[in-house]
Amino acid sequence: MRNRQVQILSLLITFASAATLLSTPAAAQPPPFSCDPSSPSTKSFPFCKASLPISKRAQDLVSRLTLDEKILQLVSSTPAIPRLGVPAYEWWSESLHGVSNAGRGIHFDGTIKSATSFPQVILTAASFDADLWYRIGQVIGTEARAVYNAGQATGMTFWAPNINIFRDPRWGRGQETPGEDPLVTGKYAVSYVRGVQGDRPQGGGKSRGGLQASACCKHFTAYDLDRWKGVDRYDFDAQVTAQDMADTFQPPFQKCIQDGKASGIMCAYNRVNGVPSCADYNLLSNIARRQWSFHGYITSDCDAVSIMYDNQKYAKTPEDAVADALKAGMDVNCGTYLQNHTKSAVEQRKVSVSEIDRALHNLFSVRMRLGLFNGDPKKQPFGNIGPDQVCSQKHQDLALEAARSGIVLLKNKEKHLPLQRSKSASLAVIGPNANKASNLLGNYAGPPCKSVTLLQALQSYVKDTRYQPGCDDVVCSSPQIAQAVEVAKAADHVVLIMGLDQTQEREDFDRVDLVLPGRQQEFITTVAQAAKKPVILVILCGGPVDIRFARDDQNIGSILWAGYPGEAGGMALSEIIFGEHNPGKILRSLFTSWLLYLSFLKKSGRFLLLLKQEGDCQ
Ligand SMILES: *[C@@H]1O[C@H](CO)[C@@H](O)[C@H](O)[C@H]1NC(C)=O
Repeated sequence: MRNRQVQILSLLITFASAATLLSTPAAAQPPPFSCDPSSPSTKSFPFCKASLPISKRAQDLVSRLTLDEKILQLVSSTPAIPRLGVPAYEWWSESLHGVSNAGRGIHFDGTIKSATSFPQVILTAASFDADLWYRIGQVIGTEARAVYNAGQATGMTFWAPNINIFRDPRWGRGQETPGEDPLVTGKYAVSYVRGVQGDRPQGGGKSRGGLQASACCKHFTAYDLDRWKGVDRYDFDAQVTAQDMADTFQPPFQKCIQDGKASGIMCAYNRVNGVPSCADYNLLSNIARRQWSFHGYITSDCDAVSIMYDNQKYAKTPEDAVADALKAGMDVNCGTYLQNHTKSAVEQRKVSVSEIDRALHNLFSVRMRLGLFNGDPKKQPFGNIGPDQVCSQKHQDLALEAARSGIVLLKNKEKHLPLQRSKSASLAVIGPNANKASNLLGNYAGPPCKSVTLLQALQSYVKDTRYQPGCDDVVCSSPQIAQAVEVAKAADHVVLIMGLDQTQEREDFDRVDLVLPGRQQEFITTVAQAAKKPVILVILCGGPVDIRFARDDQNIGSILWAGYPGEAGGMALSEIIFGEHNPGKILRSLFTSWLLYLSFLKKSGRFLLLLKQEGDCQ
């Protein structure tokens, strides 16, 4: 999604929430659905007959539409078709690490005000626990269905997981991915997708029929640059060899589709070897649909069709861009471009109605698989999932388990950790990431069930906790070193909570180096030197940071990497610091231009390898 639109959208959301506060809460709306049994026409429409195969039903529905109606169904925000009893549908919703309102299909303005916020994916992936990934997917799918049943969703198609390979460590969206390993990323995709869609785990027997919610493998393909030194994703042309494509970039997508049975794919903004992904017939139709037997819908990333003409100059006219995308196999355009230019593309004979029908067939099939054309949603297989399931204790416990299992102990000199919980000892908590709950969530987060900062969680363990932010923000351009030193000197133990946040790495913004921002390093070193005992350094970040200085600093006793640990991050970190949970730890680390994290998970006896490579931007 482009930044300006996101900003406008969040402004709108701000106004909308202000309006909700002022008005009295409305009675829960019934969820939107087609084929209402109380409507007389429903009986006559074959597309409403649940006993018929979905392909027959979709074909019947498409055959009833006029060309103008068809064109309006090719974009992400589709209008209702009242004469057929079909409600409006929103294709764009997000659920990267919990049901989110970052898209347009989900609204937290009714009974349900929040959803379980799991750690950002890069941390969850570091658990190397496919069963945990599956259970997280299940919770997300269940909460999504609860939001729909409560009348707070106009769509059930979620644009997650992000399974692009994190090849370039400076990529701002690397945090959203399971990392740089094609095998791990593929496994993550399969577990997450099967969980969200309400399927059994892989190898758990025959697939269930209906979709609990729809997941989407994105961004197809070879996308890991957002905005870097004047190059952005709309203009970027990834040069990828056939071997690298087969070894690195494609395996997660193949797994996501073949083993995960994902019902959606998103084609990426970038070109690959000159061809925009959303205009690539070989990629979308030959590889995904024929070779991998993909059955689902293909969406463009937002405005990815318009950029083929506006930015990439790949298409000579807007109509050519529309034709390129539809002929390649894209079904729906996030944005409004196809709404504006498809009619003229048909008139200019660049697109045939049969190509539009093919897209609509895929789109309505997915809506039917979601059970949205079967009459009363309460009577559907997922119809009894109530609002009490959202943010349930069980779901919040899983967010805690995920945070615990992902956090990695990078250094622990002379068994400095865990700390003893003694009544008399004092604790200094220092750093710009200590007391900001939003910094725990990562991007694409929805409103979490609860907001607890790392400081608040540590305060619940140690009565005498003293806090000093030390820097105004993670940029740390003018650190208050004297104040922080004073607090550090006086306490028995010091925890420094540093690292990155979304101002340093995010969508549409890549880093240009791997070091801590501003004067953070100087700040950490000086405070550590002043403390009575070696300090505990906690690093929040999604992409890797070069902290060789901390590895070698005798005043830093322990280092914990906590990713963006989600709503339960404070509790997980406190449990680890005070020895109630034993984290995965580093056996060996090489910090050259390669950062090699080799870690061993005691509990499961599993072995993990996280390879962080400093590379060029492809
Ligand atoms: C489509 O047309 C509308 C109305 O003229 C305009 O606001 C919108 O920006 C257009 N969309 C694109 C992607 O050009």
